[in-house]
Amino acid sequence: MKIRKMKPDDMGRIVAITKAAWGDDTLHKLMEDRYGIIGNESWDQRKADEIESLCRKNPANVIVADENGRVVGYASFTIDADSRIGHVLDNAVDPEYQGRGTGTAMNKWVLDRFGSEGVEIVRVSTLVHDKAARRMYEKNGFEELARTIHYSMRLANDMKGL
Ligand SMILES: CC(C)(COP(=O)(O)OP(=O)(O)OC[C@H]1O[C@@H](n2cnc3c(N)ncnc32)[C@H](O)[C@@H]1OP(=O)(O)O)[C@@H](O)C(=O)NCCC(=O)NCCS
Repeated sequence: MKIRKMKPDDMGRIVAITKAAWGDDTLHKLMEDRYGIIGNESWDQRKADEIESLCRKNPANVIVADENGRVVGYASFTIDADSRIGHVLDNAVDPEYQGRGTGTAMNKWVLDRFGSEGVEIVRVSTLVHDKAARRMYEKNGFEELARTIHYSMRLANDMKGL
């Protein structure tokens, strides 16, 4: 398995992996579970749209794990130019290839890149129940900083169209 920068041709696999890998690990699915389909678009399509837009906006900051020519995972990141804080963004591995160290290896690649770019502090957030992601980050040296609560509500009818 080799890790390389994404190419435009990788987009189809990145989208397919997004739809297959994410589940209760994304708020898009948790919201659909609570409210039903939102805006006529399924949670996995919304998540895929979000990832596709991120990749198109900044392809230089997306890497893929390539197993004999097949993309089996991706990871994205940014570096804040002023603070030199590195931010690990969305990443996922095809469920058929999970549990083989691919996620950890991509995360390590990003940390190495941060190191070569002069980053001092790195941050990432994930849901408390995303045990695989937490294990992956903690294995690579991250330590918990704080927890966040995600709230949602259905807007009451008398609050619409004001
Ligand atoms: C998180 C993710 C990228 C990890 O990819 P991966 O290639 O399977 O990761 P790795 O094989 O490098 O390692 C994952 C670690 O988590 C562990 N793990 C997996 N499922 C677990 C669970 N339910 N509970 C505890 N640990 C778990 C694995 O055992 C492994 O640890 P180990 O090496 O000590 O055994 C993958 O699970 C995924 O795509 N998840 C959906 C998307 C997601 O949540 N992305 C991260 C959001 S910030």
